[in-house]
Amino acid sequence: MLRKNFIMAPGPTPVPPEVLLAGAKETIHHRTPQFLKIIEQTLEEAKYLFQTSNRVYVFVSSGTGAMEAAVTNLVNPGEKAIVVVSGKFGERWKEICQAYGINVVEIALEWGEAVTPEQIEKALKEHPDAKVIFTTHSETSTGTVIDLEAIAKLTKDTDKILVTDAVSSLVAEPLKMDEWGVDVVVSGSQKGVMMPPGLAFIVLNKKAWEVVLKNKCPKYYFDLRYYDENYPDNPWTPAVNMIYMLNQSIKMIKEEGIENIWNRHRILGEATRSAVKALGLELFSKRPGNVVTAVTAPQGIDPKKVTKIMRDKYGVTIAGGQEHLANKIFRIAHLGYVSIFDTITAISALEFTLHELGYPVTFGKGVAAAMEVFNREGVAG
Ligand SMILES: Cc1ncc(COP(=O)(O)O)c(C=O)c1O
Repeated sequence: MLRKNFIMAPGPTPVPPEVLLAGAKETIHHRTPQFLKIIEQTLEEAKYLFQTSNRVYVFVSSGTGAMEAAVTNLVNPGEKAIVVVSGKFGERWKEICQAYGINVVEIALEWGEAVTPEQIEKALKEHPDAKVIFTTHSETSTGTVIDLEAIAKLTKDTDKILVTDAVSSLVAEPLKMDEWGVDVVVSGSQKGVMMPPGLAFIVLNKKAWEVVLKNKCPKYYFDLRYYDENYPDNPWTPAVNMIYMLNQSIKMIKEEGIENIWNRHRILGEATRSAVKALGLELFSKRPGNVVTAVTAPQGIDPKKVTKIMRDKYGVTIAGGQEHLANKIFRIAHLGYVSIFDTITAISALEFTLHELGYPVTFGKGVAAAMEVFNREGVAG
């Protein structure tokens, strides 16, 4: 049977043809007035993604590069930082901090839990000498979103720096950097921004910049002072064609409107959750977000087989579980350039797959539940 491909993984996500075509334009020299004009306009427009008036700095790296930049520009070796670990990406904050000799105070939670403002408050009280808190807005490994707005209220009028990893949440989950008072946000291109992998972003407010200017941690490529001195130019060679793509993707995001995109992700998330529940499956996350739905594989069903059959037989790429969750969960994303029919496709492929693996399925039950949500939300039917 003819097989078409669908990426329903939490990154890389589908890239719209308009964005791909923007990247196919002629590569011009990066130190020309023509390119400077493009990057200046693009970075100015990129503020919208973060809902900020602060400068957006772009790295030629994946999202982890921006995470490393946040650590090495804000904390000195030997200093204390609070790190929330409730999944793979919280763990990454911890590993980066440890690589630079930072004294990590870990808020260690079960994977799938969301840190509460009370837990952050307690850690701040117990460690008044910790000046930076590293969080993960959307913990992609477990499909969990934290209440960042409430957490930011704790740090907003203090000298503490709240850093959040919005690699998978940017544009997908509501995030209002300036209004909420989040001090530092990092992200990447290959998720809600609807681009291929290759760019990372970091945004800092004035309070965070004051810390950056005093920082002594060894660093070079990601030293933010070079980016600021050269802004909007890049201190090194920027990914010229990816800047064209970013320009186009921001244009499309603005056309749809960020609130509408947040709402689309909410509806797709609800539809996916409703569909998997209708199939008798359980959600893994204690506080599911609208980026990716982590599903606990039912008894006797190997989640690795679910992802393999969906990909190899039906062309639907979802994600498996990471680390100790590899044998426990699979994850269906609804992130970026995704419509109701992508979700319906993914759910129907899941139904066929579960049936093939011997799990009792009434065909269409999950799809019907998703369609009900789309109808109720007024987007179809
Ligand atoms: C929440 C989160 N943080 C960090 C990363 C790492 O980003 P990258 O793989 O682009 O370095 C990812 C990627 O999946 C992510 O989802």
